[in-house]
Amino acid sequence: MSAPTILVFDSGLGGLTVYREVARGRPDARYVYVADDAFFPYGQHGEAALEARVLPLMQDLIVAHAPDLIVIACNTASTLVLPQLRARFTVPFVGTVPAIKPAAAASQTRRIAVLGTLATVSREYTKALIRDFAGGCAVDLVGSARLAGFAEAELHGVPVTDAEIAAEIAPCFVDQNGARTDIVTLACTHYPLLLSRLEKLAPWPVRFFDPAPAIARRVVELMGPATGAASPAPARLVFTSQTPPPPALLQALARYGFGA
Ligand code: DGL
Repeated sequence: MSAPTILVFDSGLGGLTVYREVARGRPDARYVYVADDAFFPYGQHGEAALEARVLPLMQDLIVAHAPDLIVIACNTASTLVLPQLRARFTVPFVGTVPAIKPAAAASQTRRIAVLGTLATVSREYTKALIRDFAGGCAVDLVGSARLAGFAEAELHGVPVTDAEIAAEIAPCFVDQNGARTDIVTLACTHYPLLLSRLEKLAPWPVRFFDPAPAIARRVVELMGPATGAASPAPARLVFTSQTPPPPALLQALARYGFGA
């Protein structure tokens, strides 16, 4: 059987954190990574504008790349358009949504934070996850307008200060009635790109939950295990802006196996 094609989609480069795990699970697949950088950041768009952007774009990507499976490596998009994508297209979709259930199950202090884009934390989908799966945990929903952009800047070789990152994550850390936050769920795929900084800047140690390994497990569950050790072709990277990546970004991308 020829190698399946997996398309990994995000508004930008956050989905690389998901791609990395999926490629570990299915190293034999062909990969197309699509960054919709022409419309980045998704977190700043209203719901109607995002739907109007993603649905036709996905149609074009399916025609262009004929994927066997699509990973929507973006919480901001998944929490809005996943049901519509599944209804409209026959290709299977694996989405990325805030990992509230496992975080609540693992919390010792019964206080967790969900850190995502302003759009993701305001979605009805996210609120329903909390109602259905938070299991009596106190959940602090923290929306950040800037963190995804910071992660992109760092990948482009533009440094972001500790103070700027610390200010974005500060509301995640709550110490109330003797219960301190012990888990922060990273509900935006850009944030694991900053993981070492987040760990360093946390006012006290917490676990940062990255959903990427669970997404990779779901892909393997749907497609079956790898049938070989290596992909027949290098992973392709598509930027919707069609802007060529600057040298600093090329270096960062090489670490993920692109264009090295
Ligand atoms: N990576 C995206 C997510 O998981 C969002 C970043 C953005 O475009 O605002 O939500």
